[in-house]
Amino acid sequence: MTIAANFKACMTRGETRSYFDALHTFLRANPTKSDVLVFTPASCFDRFGEGATLGAQNAFPVSNGAYTGETALDQLNEFSIQTILIGHSERRQILHESQEQVATKFDFFAKQGFKIVYCIGEPLAVKQQGVDAVLSYLEKEFVGIDTGYENMVIAYEPIWAIGTGLTPSNEEIETILATIKQKYGHDVLYGGSVKAGNSKEILALESCDGVLVGSAALEVEDFSTMILNSNN
Ligand code: PGA
Repeated sequence: MTIAANFKACMTRGETRSYFDALHTFLRANPTKSDVLVFTPASCFDRFGEGATLGAQNAFPVSNGAYTGETALDQLNEFSIQTILIGHSERRQILHESQEQVATKFDFFAKQGFKIVYCIGEPLAVKQQGVDAVLSYLEKEFVGIDTGYENMVIAYEPIWAIGTGLTPSNEEIETILATIKQKYGHDVLYGGSVKAGNSKEILALESCDGVLVGSAALEVEDFSTMILNSNN
């Protein structure tokens, strides 16, 4: 199982330090076989010691260079970060990252051997057209991606479910996760309004290999509950 927290542009450096302290205290008391990943803002990168894995929410696909405002490989290497989110819908939609740019990032960080949590997900208008439309939309989000890359996990996050409190039915989640998992042979996570309260049933779905959690992961107690729920 993979239990991942995506802080997005929330949390300060100080808050992140306290979060990791609390999380590591929890993990020492409650050892887990699950992979616990925490994607913080780049300004919060640090060395937090044994326990959860620190990941990057995004990075520019170069070692370093004249890319104002970006974070690149050298800055990740400084903190031994080897895990990255690529293709998150907020980057695709709000930052207008094209499939081509997403694929370039994927290629660069795959060549560096990073663990890539590759995000896909459909907007509401597509969801309303039914499961076949959803699957063919998701298919397009794999254009240019080397799906044979071993060190990848796929996160299915319907855009309409992110930050809205809405989720697909468990049956719908299972259908999509099972199809993607069978097709690409990677672990599949669900994301979109996962909370401590619904995490148990989602994690119990046959094809679900974990969750990617935004707002509900900002409280370390809630995130810890989700880790506990992944242990069954
Ligand atoms: P959410 O976000 O849990 O706040 O819906 C999930 C995500 O965007 O990764």
